[in-house]
Amino acid sequence: MASSEHPATLIERVQHFVSDHKRAVLIGTAAAVVAVGGVAYYASTSSRPKGRGTDVEKAAKKDKKKSSKSGKKKKSVKDVDGPILEEREPKELEEQPLTDEQIADMSDEERTKLAASFKEKGNTAYKERRFAQAAVLYTRAISVSPKPEPVFYSNRAACYVNMTPPQHELVISDCDEALKLDSNYVKALNRRGNALESLERYEEALRDFTAATILDKFANQSTAQSVERVLQKLATKKAAEILAHREPRLPSYTFISAYFAAFRPRAHPALPENPTTGDETLHLALQALDAADYPHALSLINEAIEQGISWDIGKSEALNLRGTFKFLTGDVDGAKADFQESIDLQPSFTQSLVKIASVHMEQGDPKKAFECFEEAIKQNPNDPDIYYHRGQVLFIMNEFTQAAENYTKSTELDDQFVFSHIQLAVAQYKSGNLQNSMATFRRTLKAFPQRSEPQNYYGELLLDQQRFEEAVEKFERAVELEKQKTPPNVLPLVNKGLALYQWKQDIGAAERCCNEALRIDPECEAAVATLAQLSLQQSKIDRAVEMFERQAELARSEPELVNALTYQYASASQVEFLKNYPEMAAQLNALARGM
Ligand SMILES: *[C@@H]1O[C@H](CO)[C@@H](O)[C@H](O)[C@H]1NC(C)=O
Ligand SMILES: *[C@@H]1O[C@H](CO)[C@@H](O)[C@H](O)[C@H]1NC(C)=O
Repeated sequence: MASSEHPATLIERVQHFVSDHKRAVLIGTAAAVVAVGGVAYYASTSSRPKGRGTDVEKAAKKDKKKSSKSGKKKKSVKDVDGPILEEREPKELEEQPLTDEQIADMSDEERTKLAASFKEKGNTAYKERRFAQAAVLYTRAISVSPKPEPVFYSNRAACYVNMTPPQHELVISDCDEALKLDSNYVKALNRRGNALESLERYEEALRDFTAATILDKFANQSTAQSVERVLQKLATKKAAEILAHREPRLPSYTFISAYFAAFRPRAHPALPENPTTGDETLHLALQALDAADYPHALSLINEAIEQGISWDIGKSEALNLRGTFKFLTGDVDGAKADFQESIDLQPSFTQSLVKIASVHMEQGDPKKAFECFEEAIKQNPNDPDIYYHRGQVLFIMNEFTQAAENYTKSTELDDQFVFSHIQLAVAQYKSGNLQNSMATFRRTLKAFPQRSEPQNYYGELLLDQQRFEEAVEKFERAVELEKQKTPPNVLPLVNKGLALYQWKQDIGAAERCCNEALRIDPECEAAVATLAQLSLQQSKIDRAVEMFERQAELARSEPELVNALTYQYASASQVEFLKNYPEMAAQLNALARGM
């Protein structure tokens, strides 16, 4: 929910870009395969071993048809069905299994016939839900058959699925055998995927479901859902592991400066007459903050609080700053505690209240956030920051009319804060009021000729209207203005790249912009996310995986991390698919490029 803290449009648009292309990521080169479908699919089916025989489920279906014709009702069997409670010994099993010598005496033809008959009996037992017997019969089919048949293993796996408790390890080893014999055996892939998922071996389950989805030409909804489900479980599990072990770290320079820029600059509190060491350190921390030297500001503020600050106003200021850094590193509970203590020491310090509101938003609790704004207004009804940030919360809740009112109020109280003008224009745009929005932007451009932000965000709205040329012009102007700062804000550069990509499909230019942005701010999240998407567009999946890994490293909050990991694992599973099914690579790559 970083978007609540600075003009949201770029992040939003990158996210839209990502979700528009989510299909491309999740189901890989989905459309691609459907389009080539013919070739890819039929080529692979025709190379399957012949005479694989019927799968038990098909047999069960046929049987169901027959029995419904003859008026008998039988319960059909699915993998998901539970086991039967009672099992009779079928007659066949009372016979002694054939010895190796007896088998060796038979001709291949006889052995094939015998194996087929064991399989038939197995199918019958399976349909009658005698899974243990069915498994034994498939085992016999396997042992007499002159050559290994994938369907025997896959059918036996189906029996293990239905036992109580399900024998996941055996399902996996039988599917391993079946897939060794026929790597395109979709049903075995699905079975193994389910067993692996039950054992929480999500990465391997994802590998199987991904392969099944692609081999099935993306036609099977249920497999596609399995991919999504396992991906979600995998990303959530990995995110929890990462967050449990990761050192808290600051987000990118671009992110932090956007956060601080969302609050009006305030005068530093005056030091007491005889400042303590802690007081002096606080003063240094605030100076580092003014110089945008965030890592230094962070270590100084921690030091100042450890050393002890001698007066309440200073202490309140220090806790506000430490809380802000905690918030930025993703420690929302710690941040909340610091902001609360800051307010207890100085109840009129409305900025700390506004920041608690953003903690509530990060925790998905807008109601509490609004209570904080009310409380802040009680303390200081003329603080423009309160209305600006309430506008931001309303904005991300799509309450654009109320958001616009709040931005306007903020502007009335202080018209020198550029973001309330910009956000007003964006809110007007979002509520469909194009004329007003463009007028607000033109006024803002005039009032802040030396600020890059109005250029940048105006450019975004132009881009949204597909007025590419004008958009690029605005981004270029913003880049120019930012060049005069050290370090410059790189968002206009990333925007320019996106615009060039959307306008002319100029991937090279887009990548150059993002790389330039990363040269200036190596951690710029938007640049990394955009590069990841651009790599996917070109089917440079290895590079995309690398970028998603980077994005995961940069992710500040759990939802951001889960999101990045989802893409990372989805792309990685495609890389693995292409490794395992190299014959599919040419088609997939060619078509992905056309997406
Ligand atoms: C789709 O896949 C599921 C397993 O995920 C399978 O049970 C089902 O039979 C498949 N449907 C079709 C139409 O192939
Ligand atoms: C701002 O938003 C609140 C809703 O939280 C709304 O009640 C109020 O009327 C809006 N406008 C102003 C000027 O505060």
